[in-house]
Amino acid sequence: MSALPPQPDQAPDSRSHPPLPPVRVERRDVGEEESRRANGPDWDRYADDYQATHGEFLGDAGFVWGPEGLTEAEAGVLGPVAGRDVLEVGSGAGQCSRWVRDQGGRSFGVDLSYRQLQHSRRIDEGTGVVVPSVQATATHLPFADASFDAVFSSFGALQFVRDLDRAVAETARVLRPGGRFAFSITHPTRWMFPDDPGEAGLVASQSYWDRTPYVEVDDATGEVSYVEHHRTLGDWVGVLAGHGFAIVRLVEPEWPEHHDRVWGGWSATRGRWTPGTAIFACDLR
Ligand SMILES: C[S@@+](CC[C@H](N)C(=O)[O-])C[C@H]1O[C@@H](n2cnc3c(N)ncnc32)[C@H](O)[C@@H]1O
Repeated sequence: MSALPPQPDQAPDSRSHPPLPPVRVERRDVGEEESRRANGPDWDRYADDYQATHGEFLGDAGFVWGPEGLTEAEAGVLGPVAGRDVLEVGSGAGQCSRWVRDQGGRSFGVDLSYRQLQHSRRIDEGTGVVVPSVQATATHLPFADASFDAVFSSFGALQFVRDLDRAVAETARVLRPGGRFAFSITHPTRWMFPDDPGEAGLVASQSYWDRTPYVEVDDATGEVSYVEHHRTLGDWVGVLAGHGFAIVRLVEPEWPEHHDRVWGGWSATRGRWTPGTAIFACDLR
């Protein structure tokens, strides 16, 4: 990926939550370590607000694949979980994993953010449904080979890591043969549009093929404070196939007719025209 010069005026606001400290937006390449150093503390800062704003929509033991509100009970992308060992990567407060536990699965969480994991513990205690979770990154999963029957991520780590190849390799390593990998991400076509829930978010303003990361730099310290990485649909197919995965489904949830909730750049205005979420399901050969 080549680094482009910063284009603050043209940069899309592509992040999935509003910036917290005063920041300037840049488009430039960022390494894996710098992405991790930025995103862990960013999610720590944002976690309380995130859970207060979206916790009710997510449900303490609910499994929602994205802002459209499509649930795993409706979609069946992860497949049967009862009696299975299941890992959630980028588990946040563990809502999805708690739903898996309610279905009889043995789910575990991994998240980069300590504060998100504190929320997970808070909900564990409130519901009595405990999701054992560890603080770690998607590119270094702290589990033995072939530990899980399924790995999933609902808008979790995958668009925050620079080294996607490594993250998918790690997923393949901890899965048992035939295991299912299911994940949702911002739909790759969204990268072309400004992250605006209104009409402005329907007008393409940059190339779909421009993979230069979206970066926020803290004005006060000059440090990178948030990063999102973009891949095209073809990139996803390539990296999954390259690690032995066969894609069995690609779900592009339609915006439900009476759903008027706005979440960042996701809204009914845009959702009627263009997909906001892509959900992949693939099996390890
Ligand atoms: C949008 S939240 C999604 C969490 C949960 N599925 C939900 O819907 O609330 C993204 C989560 O990914 C975590 N995350 C970001 N980068 C990560 C990484 N490299 N490894 C593991 N988790 C990461 C964040 O800390 C955050 O909890």
